[in-house]
Amino acid sequence: MPVDPRVESLLARMTLEEKAGQLSVFADMVRPFAPDVNPEANRRNADEVIEQVRAGRAGTLFNGVGAAQGREIQRVAVEESRLGIPVLLAADVIHGMRTVFPIPLGEAASFEPELARRTARATAVEATAAGIHWTYAPAVDIARDQRWGRGAEGAGEDTFLGCAFAAARVRGFQGEDLRAPDSLLATAKHFAAYGAVAAGMDYNYVEISEGTLRDVHLPPFKAALDAGALAVMTAFNDINGVPASANRALLTGVLREQWGFPGLVVSDYTADMELVAHGYAADDRDATLRAFTAGMDMSMQSGFYAEHLPALVESGQVTLEMLDAAVRRVLSVKAALGLFDDPYRSLDPVREADASHLPAHEALAREAARRSIVLLKNEGDALPLQGGRRIALVGPFARDVDNIEGCWTLFGDRSRYVGLEAGIRAALPPGAVLDVVDGCALETPLDGGVDAAVAAARDADVVLLAVGEPQRYSGEAQSRTQIVLPAVQQALAEAVAATGTPLVVLLRNGRALALEGAVRDAQAILVTWFLGSQTGHAVADVVFGRHGPSARLPVSFPHDSGQQPYFYNHPRTGRPETPQMSEFKARWREQPNAALYPFGHGLGYGRIEYGATTVDAAALAWDGTLAVRASVRNAGTRAAEEVVQLYLHDRVGSRVRPVRELKGFVKLPLAPGESRDVVFELTREQVAFTRADGSFGAEPGRFDVWIAPSAAAGEPVSFELLPPAASLP
Ligand code: NOJ
Repeated sequence: MPVDPRVESLLARMTLEEKAGQLSVFADMVRPFAPDVNPEANRRNADEVIEQVRAGRAGTLFNGVGAAQGREIQRVAVEESRLGIPVLLAADVIHGMRTVFPIPLGEAASFEPELARRTARATAVEATAAGIHWTYAPAVDIARDQRWGRGAEGAGEDTFLGCAFAAARVRGFQGEDLRAPDSLLATAKHFAAYGAVAAGMDYNYVEISEGTLRDVHLPPFKAALDAGALAVMTAFNDINGVPASANRALLTGVLREQWGFPGLVVSDYTADMELVAHGYAADDRDATLRAFTAGMDMSMQSGFYAEHLPALVESGQVTLEMLDAAVRRVLSVKAALGLFDDPYRSLDPVREADASHLPAHEALAREAARRSIVLLKNEGDALPLQGGRRIALVGPFARDVDNIEGCWTLFGDRSRYVGLEAGIRAALPPGAVLDVVDGCALETPLDGGVDAAVAAARDADVVLLAVGEPQRYSGEAQSRTQIVLPAVQQALAEAVAATGTPLVVLLRNGRALALEGAVRDAQAILVTWFLGSQTGHAVADVVFGRHGPSARLPVSFPHDSGQQPYFYNHPRTGRPETPQMSEFKARWREQPNAALYPFGHGLGYGRIEYGATTVDAAALAWDGTLAVRASVRNAGTRAAEEVVQLYLHDRVGSRVRPVRELKGFVKLPLAPGESRDVVFELTREQVAFTRADGSFGAEPGRFDVWIAPSAAAGEPVSFELLPPAASLP
């Protein structure tokens, strides 16, 4: 972070109250928007907020929108506050602004970090045009339990994939130069281990080993910071008894001392206040003391820092050095954004009007959406649909446009949303006929709905069954115990399937689901997540074969809800199930220890064949590299894009190692008949982990490696990692 002399000069002149003000973040009641995304706390009206800005007691406002009013807030800060320090305007802009892109989990299914960089860039262009400098994104939490609703906001269950997407999103939001008027400050959140809440219940406690914390949950934060993110948001949960928002070991030890993070740490909404409810702080002042001294620079919405920090400094419980260090970071981020040179950056009403509808972003939304759709199964080549047929589009999502954006979309331009019916109708081939029947509502039956759906199915050559989770089933505070379809939709699916007409499921979901009955047994299943503004067009592109599906699951689809937390890279047990033996083995009475559809799985319209995985040598020298190869061929008649995945497994470790772990991937276009050799280079860094003694590094020994189409496919080949002193045989 660049050092700006104006920061020191301001620090020298600021009162304690003004310093605490720079560390205080309040809801933007001047330009309020969707205030109900957070519980109400410390309510203020617009005049009070402006007065706080004028008094230098509010350095950042969040979740407001609009360039013209933003300019007015900034004018008060710059012209009417004593020191003229510009305000920072923040918002939750998670997966799109006016144009809505797929939920992050869906976009991760593309296995194309570059796509995520592009959608984050487009998001930044639109958000900064609308008077926002700072986004509370990306969420980089690893979600290994699908009951947790906030998996929708991250990149799924895998750390390697999570790191790639975390870095890409930061690069997209922040752009090449943070000072540019269309660069949006990024926040890696929620630090840390928020995705590891017990039983997948939001806000719950986290009991976790140091190794799992370090190897699974922390790396995406490191990746985001290495990509340049200058903000981190703390998590609500405790970790082994210490709330993340007052966790010195994490906020100071890991972030500052180990990683050298120069940026700011902001609390999640009222997370300092919640230390009292956690029973970790006795009262508001104690909560302030604990959060601040642990390393939380900024307090969001509670008002605790504004209220208690000056007195804590006066009493000597907080040192002036510590206070100044936090203020220095916040002011330095403002300087890095160019706010001291141009406080009105990103507050240009003309640009806001120009950016309100950008056709290039609409095209990108369609591209991102169709590249996020996963084809789980395709019996008898049910897809793509051939022309001239009678199609019944059935289900509560058929006509719906209220459940296409997904969670955490505050500012989307709903007038431009394209639902399934509109998209499919627009793409109907000549001679095809479309019948549309709701069948039921999202959670309740409709009078005569099932009968109408069954009649339409009987008349049709194929049914497109649009079922899944309502959008509010995922996101914050939306944990589930049963990750299945609402019963009324399952019943609709059974009735429609009983007609015998081939069924193609268009699944709407914010997490991996346990598919059951007629939905699980349909001829074809497309996982369509929440795809955003261009949902209908994107689904139609895939259904009619204008675009071949190329996405892969970033989360394991289990056989049953009760398997949760189920993730592919689980540690080995002492009694693994084998094809020959399942008695006295690690499995459930009802289900195997496996996924119905594993992580990494997804089909295209080609037919992909993998050659054997080979290694160039039997051993990898400690400082050497080893090439791992396989040939991949499209034996089908249609073009395809294959996500070729590299998995590793450490046979013996000082801590029990995962059954396999993703260590590389590449998306390859393959024309019909085309064959390509894929090569991954391995070094010992890829097999490093937190060892039993707490150190990080590789352990010499034997490893298995796969080049495979999913976490459950392929045959491994093995190699030896030689110890440091050994030379190659
Ligand atoms: C709570 C959420 O946990 C966080 O992700 C979000 O940024 C804040 N509220 C602010 O809205």
